[in-house]
Amino acid sequence: MDVEIYYFSGTGNSFALAREIAGKFGGALYAIPAMMDQEYISPQADALGLVFPVYHKGIPLILKRFVDKMVALENRYLFAVCTYGDTPGLALPHLAKLIQARGGSLAAGFGVQMPFNYLTPTLKLKGFLDAFTLREVPVEKQRALLATAPQHVERIVAYVRARKSGDFAITSDFLTRLADHFDLNETLGKSVWLKVAGVTEPTTLSFLESRQLMDRAFHVDEHCIGCGNCARICPVRNIRMVDNAGDSHRKPQWQQRCEQCFACLQWCPQQAIQFGSNTAGRKRYHHPDVKLADMFLFS
Ligand SMILES: Cc1cc2nc3c(=O)[nH]c(=O)nc-3n(C[C@H](O)[C@H](O)[C@H](O)COP(=O)(O)O)c2cc1C
Ligand code: SF4
Ligand code: SF4
Repeated sequence: MDVEIYYFSGTGNSFALAREIAGKFGGALYAIPAMMDQEYISPQADALGLVFPVYHKGIPLILKRFVDKMVALENRYLFAVCTYGDTPGLALPHLAKLIQARGGSLAAGFGVQMPFNYLTPTLKLKGFLDAFTLREVPVEKQRALLATAPQHVERIVAYVRARKSGDFAITSDFLTRLADHFDLNETLGKSVWLKVAGVTEPTTLSFLESRQLMDRAFHVDEHCIGCGNCARICPVRNIRMVDNAGDSHRKPQWQQRCEQCFACLQWCPQQAIQFGSNTAGRKRYHHPDVKLADMFLFS
């Protein structure tokens, strides 16, 4: 079967899975960010897979932008695999709608639970913004989660080979569906997360688009050695290395077109990138079988 796999990934979970799936099919593997300069995405294979992380119970902005560029989807078999830390949320139904608007049809959507790589609220009586910390997933739990990946891959590959349709990993979580129904992410979710990121001015951007501004909370501490890895790993070239008076080397500067993939923070070899006031000293994560060089998409 002729298969093309398109992926987006910040800390390697989705990349590792996409690489495995493409390998099983002997299919082509494409990084979505590296294709975004194209005016249209015109797939050639008869089966297409999209692999990506769940963000805020939905999809990453870049995935929407990518799908909006896709053409000639009619009569192709489309499937999606989302990786998530807690719940796939409504990422797959949202993606299905976007694909439908492009004339295609999402035949199946799978969810694979993997280590969580983002901020998580903790119970705190005081200091609402400080309650969002980088979640540390114990190594044993990481191993246990990652050990299930081969079974997922086998199931997905068998399903796609048989060209079946109908399977969708959708949360049945009542609150998620309620929040979606009343569009609470657009109102409540957006204002909370913008506040966490230190964006105080009003914006007309949707919650999805407003992620671009959330890099406001990134800053670099004294451990930075100016290696430039953060700029190289950023999938949307959102980081510039700049000279500042008084600094012995260049330091990253964020450009407000962020995807919030957390690659810069998680992969910095010095753990010098912080988000807000509560990530210093917290353990960083990336998929153990993925190397930094695997994540560099631009020269
Ligand atoms: C901005 C952001 C938002 C996230 N939101 C969710 C979420 O709503 N539900 C969830 O289960 N995991 C969430 N996660 C965790 C990721 O989906 C999960 O760790 C994923 O496997 C990361 O994939 P990657 O390594 O390919 O980037 C979020 C991660 C980020 C960076
Ligand atoms: S990856 Fe870390 S150490 Fe290297 S330039 Fe970026 S912030 Fe500094
Ligand atoms: S700035 Fe950091 S979090 Fe934002 S897209 Fe680039 S690597 Fe990801």
